[in-house]
Amino acid sequence: MKAEALTYRARQLWYAYRAAPSQQDLDEVRAILNPGEMGLFEGMQPSEQAHSLAVMRRLQAQDPLSQDLLVAALLHDVGKSLYPLSMWERVLIVLVGALSSGLLARWGAGEPRGWRLAFVVARQHPQWGADMAARQGASPLAVELIRQHQNYLPADTVLSTDTLLGKLQAADGNS
Ligand SMILES: [Fe+2]
Ligand SMILES: [Fe+2]
Repeated sequence: MKAEALTYRARQLWYAYRAAPSQQDLDEVRAILNPGEMGLFEGMQPSEQAHSLAVMRRLQAQDPLSQDLLVAALLHDVGKSLYPLSMWERVLIVLVGALSSGLLARWGAGEPRGWRLAFVVARQHPQWGADMAARQGASPLAVELIRQHQNYLPADTVLSTDTLLGKLQAADGNS
């Protein structure tokens, strides 16, 4: 990643970190999620809630609508709520990821404690979030989308954005 791209990403992170959903947004979310899933959503940091809403809005604009996809959009990062990260930890993840994705993966393996915590959250939150959503009665498809949301298909996979997972990843990557 070039210096300008990194500066851009840091600015983007800063604005994202200060974002929060409105009451109207929350009412909209409540109409989509079941009560247990809503409890999970409410446990997320406001900035993560705003990010999830942005991902859902992008998908809502597409047709045909899939309820499972909307639930997955709203809860795909819910695993992060187990260990809320600071702005600086998020910046660190971006910097290390830009330096070496192998390093990011290596530091992200293992237990969520110590200096590696932020990296473990970055790598393992899809798994944690999927388990949390399953416990609250999310559909198997929504759970699977959450679990796989960081498992990118090879770039040359034909029509990968036609799949629900591809759509979720495209909408997630753009915010
Ligand atoms: Fe994620
Ligand atoms: Fe995300």
